[in-house]
Amino acid sequence: MCGIVGYVGKLGDGERAREVVMGGLARLEYRGYDSAGIALVSDDRDRVATAKKAGKLANLSAELEANPLPEGTAAIGHTRWATHGPPTDTNAHPHLALGGRIAIIHNGIIENHAELRTELAATGINFLSDTDTEVAGHLLGSLVASGMSLPDAMRATARRLEGAFTLLAVDATDPQTVVGARRNSPLVVGLGEGENYLGSDVVAFIEHTRTALELKQDEVVTITPDEVIVTDAHSEVVEREPYHVDWDAAAAEKGGFDSFMDKEIHDQPSAVADTLRGRVDERGRLKLDEGIVDEYILKSVDKIIIIACGTAAYAGQVARYAIEHWTRVPVEVELAHEFRYRDPIVSVKTLVVAVSQSGETMDTIMAVRHAQQQGATVIGIVNAQGSTIAREADAVLYTRAGPEIAVASTKAFLAQITAGYLLGIYLAELRGNKFPDEIDALLRELDEIPAKIQRVLDTSEPIREVARSMANEQTVLFLGRHVGFPVAMEGALKLKELAYIHAEGFAAGELKHGPIALVEQDQPVFVVVPSPRGRESLHSKVLSNVQEVRARGARTLVIAEEGDAVAADHAAHVFYVPSAPVLMTPLLSVIPLQIFALELAAAKGYDVDQPRNLAKSVTVE
Ligand code: M6R
Repeated sequence: MCGIVGYVGKLGDGERAREVVMGGLARLEYRGYDSAGIALVSDDRDRVATAKKAGKLANLSAELEANPLPEGTAAIGHTRWATHGPPTDTNAHPHLALGGRIAIIHNGIIENHAELRTELAATGINFLSDTDTEVAGHLLGSLVASGMSLPDAMRATARRLEGAFTLLAVDATDPQTVVGARRNSPLVVGLGEGENYLGSDVVAFIEHTRTALELKQDEVVTITPDEVIVTDAHSEVVEREPYHVDWDAAAAEKGGFDSFMDKEIHDQPSAVADTLRGRVDERGRLKLDEGIVDEYILKSVDKIIIIACGTAAYAGQVARYAIEHWTRVPVEVELAHEFRYRDPIVSVKTLVVAVSQSGETMDTIMAVRHAQQQGATVIGIVNAQGSTIAREADAVLYTRAGPEIAVASTKAFLAQITAGYLLGIYLAELRGNKFPDEIDALLRELDEIPAKIQRVLDTSEPIREVARSMANEQTVLFLGRHVGFPVAMEGALKLKELAYIHAEGFAAGELKHGPIALVEQDQPVFVVVPSPRGRESLHSKVLSNVQEVRARGARTLVIAEEGDAVAADHAAHVFYVPSAPVLMTPLLSVIPLQIFALELAAAKGYDVDQPRNLAKSVTVE
């Protein structure tokens, strides 16, 4: 939530600071789009130049066109997802302190802001905004006024703050320095030549450099054009090895599609293929990416808990069916924000699997820490390299979906299921639940999925057409059984997020226990029909559910396996996906539902990449 960019370059580079920061904000806008702002250190040694505007980044760009900022060498920029105070020009970041000499931007929530505000107000400071950020700005300003350098003042400020924050600040008297601090919120450093960058995410600077440094908890970073100094909370300098970002700027572009979401839906064959690639070590064993978990621990695990939120949790629910089936270890799936408040039974024999695209979802981070405190081993299934969950988990299995920019998750979902399956196969192999030929057969089944996804994409026009004709629907229901149940819930979530239509996903078997009361004449109901080649009873039971809603007037839209003529008999519309083993079907059957939500939202004229009220990574609890 909230995107943060910082830049410092050489003197005489004119517009570059502003251009780099505005470019970074454009790439980070998915993190929040309630307002945007920029602060720039120019030749004015008394005051940082700023511009900020409520609404999307386009409003700030228009403001800069009308009232250009002077040239400068250092700049910070912010795109906001509002927490404290409504999205107004005044509450937009940056916030100024020390009569405009200091500018600060912030991502996160400062929990003790009220107490600090009272303390600072008593010294005569006048607050202009409703934000917790301004409190941090004035605290920083007062420390600078007392004679501290900006980095020292930032460390002292961070020590006084409680909660989650990434802070970046500039000082008008020091035109070639940007200082940043982080606790429980992301901040990465980009290393350039004669210039350096800061960002909430590497996408902020990926078009300029693919060499990055991660910052750990409570570290403070000072960037100048030629130097990056990282210190810990005790002011000790920390040496950090840079890493190479293994995708480039093109991966974060729309690539000819109308929206990032459409592009990311089309990225799904490669997201799955890349997640599968290179997973077998020299002994022919599956391997994790980073970190080591003692094989003895994994062999003695007696329970697996998958923790995640939103779409990642639905991926976890899909993976549960496979992991439990292949390993015979009980698997629970729990929403991360509920997990630690429930006093869960976790021991050293519990394996916790944290699933997260961003690796920065605060609810999931807190659940990981809680599990580790209880002695559990944590494996992260994470997309963002070097993110907090990737770093704090005992080991990581990266989903290699590439950058996911659209706020609604699509390709990460498929990659998360794939990684969950790889983990299940890995455990089954390690624990001896499967013979090598069975493991090979499962891997072959997975290997066939990318080409099948491509076929679903190539034949998506019918679902697009139906979606366009349904722009005026008020409610859409989604039903599924077994692995089709989390797919139904994911389909409903996509529709809610993108088209602002009331949508509910139900276990098809639950229908008769209440939800069927919602069905009236012409009510659209999507049904994910299992393969007739799977457990026969499952197929026929879901078709019975289809009959039950049809008998009450529902318009049924059925996702079925190619060749399932019986399913077609039960449907107003049928959308076929290629045949696959039952556990692999979610990787195919969800795609028409993603496309349906995208197309319907687009038909309503909505911004499918940045739906209202949402932010890509939810970095506050
Ligand atoms: O970054 P994460 O995977 O941890 O994010 C989890 C959820 O916030 C995320 O999946 C959210 O539900 C998306 N808006 C779904 O489209």
